[in-house]
Amino acid sequence: MDGRRRSLFCMSLLIGLLQISAKLIPCDRIHNDRNCYIHNISIDPTENHNDTQFQHVLQLVLDNCSIVQFSSELFANLGETNFLTLKRGNVPNVNFSSETLHTLRIDKTGLKNLSIASIPNHNLNTLMINRNPISILPNTIRYLFALSIVDLSQNQLNHMNLDWFQQMDNLMILDLSWNHIVRIDGSSDLRLKRLKNFWINHNQLSQVPWFPIAFPKLERIRLSDNYWTCSWVRAVRQQIWDRGIQLFDADSACSEQQEGGLCCYVSATVGSPTAKYEFIEIDFQPQTASIMEMEPEKPQSASLVAADREGKGNVTCRSFQEKIRNLKREMLIMARERAEMEQQFAKKVQSLQELLRGIREDLGESEKEVSRYRLKERLEMIAKTERLNNKK
Ligand SMILES: *[C@@H]1O[C@H](CO)[C@@H](O)[C@H](O)[C@H]1NC(C)=O
Ligand SMILES: *[C@@H]1O[C@H](CO)[C@@H](O)[C@H](O)[C@H]1NC(C)=O
Ligand SMILES: *[C@@H]1O[C@H](CO)[C@@H](O)[C@H](O)[C@H]1NC(C)=O
Ligand SMILES: *[C@@H]1O[C@H](CO)[C@@H](O)[C@H](O)[C@H]1NC(C)=O
Ligand SMILES: *[C@@H]1O[C@H](CO)[C@@H](O)[C@H](O)[C@H]1NC(C)=O
Ligand SMILES: *[C@@H]1O[C@H](CO)[C@@H](O)[C@H](O)[C@H]1NC(C)=O
Repeated sequence: MDGRRRSLFCMSLLIGLLQISAKLIPCDRIHNDRNCYIHNISIDPTENHNDTQFQHVLQLVLDNCSIVQFSSELFANLGETNFLTLKRGNVPNVNFSSETLHTLRIDKTGLKNLSIASIPNHNLNTLMINRNPISILPNTIRYLFALSIVDLSQNQLNHMNLDWFQQMDNLMILDLSWNHIVRIDGSSDLRLKRLKNFWINHNQLSQVPWFPIAFPKLERIRLSDNYWTCSWVRAVRQQIWDRGIQLFDADSACSEQQEGGLCCYVSATVGSPTAKYEFIEIDFQPQTASIMEMEPEKPQSASLVAADREGKGNVTCRSFQEKIRNLKREMLIMARERAEMEQQFAKKVQSLQELLRGIREDLGESEKEVSRYRLKERLEMIAKTERLNNKK
């Protein structure tokens, strides 16, 4: 009895000591009892991250913070947090390891080194890394089996291996746009079984391997601004068309034609390529094309973004973001209208050409008619003058 009481006492003393040494980072603001916003803090890499505690909330947003190493210890101390957003500031190294996070978002933190623990992870369903100088993705990303949305747009990635995503049975959106990707690899048995959106516009790609066989459920694709080889474009064009995959974008810079389509190159050598223009139908759907807006299947992601938006907590900011969203929507509508106008224009040109051809044929006919008539006239004249001469 006594021993037990003493050990209890010792334990509470130990807990007390731990609490004294632990460094709790308070929220600057808590929204709805769920969302915690922390600004401008810095966590030194030499500190013992085991002692750094965060308040237990559902969503944590670290804005403009300086954390040279976001270590696995920090991840371990996130408690029940499901959504973590690191935005702006300086977080160049991230060692991801977590059993609780559903969403990890790293936006413009100067991220260069990402490491992902080689432990099977069945919780993280959304990974968004944007506007960072990161150029290499660790192949341990393949341990993130539950990923459904992977948005890696606007980084400096230079290579991608689709085999890393093979085991992600729920992967629906893969956005690799606006990177420096020169090559995408994938083995012949690659199948991204549920992938619906595949965006690879604005890279330096000459082809995508096993396309579209490896993408049995693909619905939407963005391809513009790459260095596609013409043979690849020719090979996939009919299949994109047959499978009803919507091409969401088009090149316009490399040709005098304006119907929409893709620029392609005869030789894959990047440098001074001679662009050719291959035509693919564009089909703009009335849906919006942004990941955020078109993803009703992932309410977590949407609510995170919403919370983030509110995180500004500020009417001016919110109205600005509202304006930006409206502008984006307007841009989309304008792009759609432009494509429609171009199609209409193309049709008009075609019908004008047919009309012209018709007129020309008619003209030719009437010219023949006229010359036949003239000939007849002349013959009659000759006959007449001959008759007159004979009378004389
Ligand atoms: C963060 O730092 C900036 C500049 O020093 C300051 O304007 C802002 O109020 C700070 N934010 C918070 C939440 O402390
Ligand atoms: C970010 O935090 C730093 C201090 O770490 C501060 O000097 C800077 O003004 C802050 N920037 C913004 C936009 O809040
Ligand atoms: C932090 O905790 C982990 C596991 O609890 C331990 O292995 C590690 O040594 C600790 N690090 C420090 C610096 O105390
Ligand atoms: C972070 O990850 C890198 C690369 O895997 C590793 O070398 C480093 O030791 C890790 N650092 C910490 C603090 O876990
Ligand atoms: C990233 O990690 C490499 C080694 O893994 C290291 O040399 C480099 O300094 C790290 N980059 C940053 C920004 O810390
Ligand atoms: C939002 O920010 C502006 C100026 O930055 C300030 O005047 C206003 O009071 C803030 N609004 C709220 C609701 O915090």
